[in-house]
Amino acid sequence: MIIIKDKIKAFIFDLDGVITDTAKYHYLGWKRLAEEEGIDFSKEDNEELRGVSRRKSLEILLDGREVSEEEKEEMMERKNGYYQEFINEITEEDLLPGIKEIIMELRKRNFKLAVASSSRNVKPVIKNLGVGDIFDTISDGHSVNNAKPAPDIFLHTAEKLEVAPESCVVIEDAKAGIVAALRANMIAVGIGPDARVGKAHYRYDQVKDIELEEILG
Ligand code: BG6
Ligand code: MG
Repeated sequence: MIIIKDKIKAFIFDLDGVITDTAKYHYLGWKRLAEEEGIDFSKEDNEELRGVSRRKSLEILLDGREVSEEEKEEMMERKNGYYQEFINEITEEDLLPGIKEIIMELRKRNFKLAVASSSRNVKPVIKNLGVGDIFDTISDGHSVNNAKPAPDIFLHTAEKLEVAPESCVVIEDAKAGIVAALRANMIAVGIGPDARVGKAHYRYDQVKDIELEEILG
């Protein structure tokens, strides 16, 4: 893909692990469920779940263990209950360092801004963070049928923004999210280690390290 920097019109942000560090709460929720079910589950195992839908996460956790659909539903709900206990406590202080500055700078420069997350808990998280009004549109786990690594959520978001995919920059912390952004023919910015997001066009260790001038030229 040839990146034409003048053509960049929109920035699409992932939520969990980019705007706020809810990845740790997803981990604690799954960890508690795993303990209750007698399943070994480490922080390293959790890396596989980053950016992945709730159902897919459970399937990875179960690692082939046979459970009925009813049991799956119950387990997903149980984990979500634990997760919601954490997100109820979120405040503006939980914005990741540097994210507010980047968003405000992009706003000032008239880029369109969106959130595109696989989560079905986006609304309360964004509300507690106090950033709901900043974005032109928000897509979540209810918006499309095929979750990341499918490109659907990003294409859906670009359509809502009325911007061509190749004019969108996606900021993501998950391998599944980078794959989705590349499949959508968007410019991918990875946050995290090379092993996880190294396929992105640009990569930074943390949100606060993002260099907008490097991306915008
Ligand atoms: C993603 C997270 O944003 O949302 C995943 O990175 C999570 O860890 C997925 O599983 C689904 O979230 P939820 O809130 O609908 O269970
Ligand atoms: Mg994420």
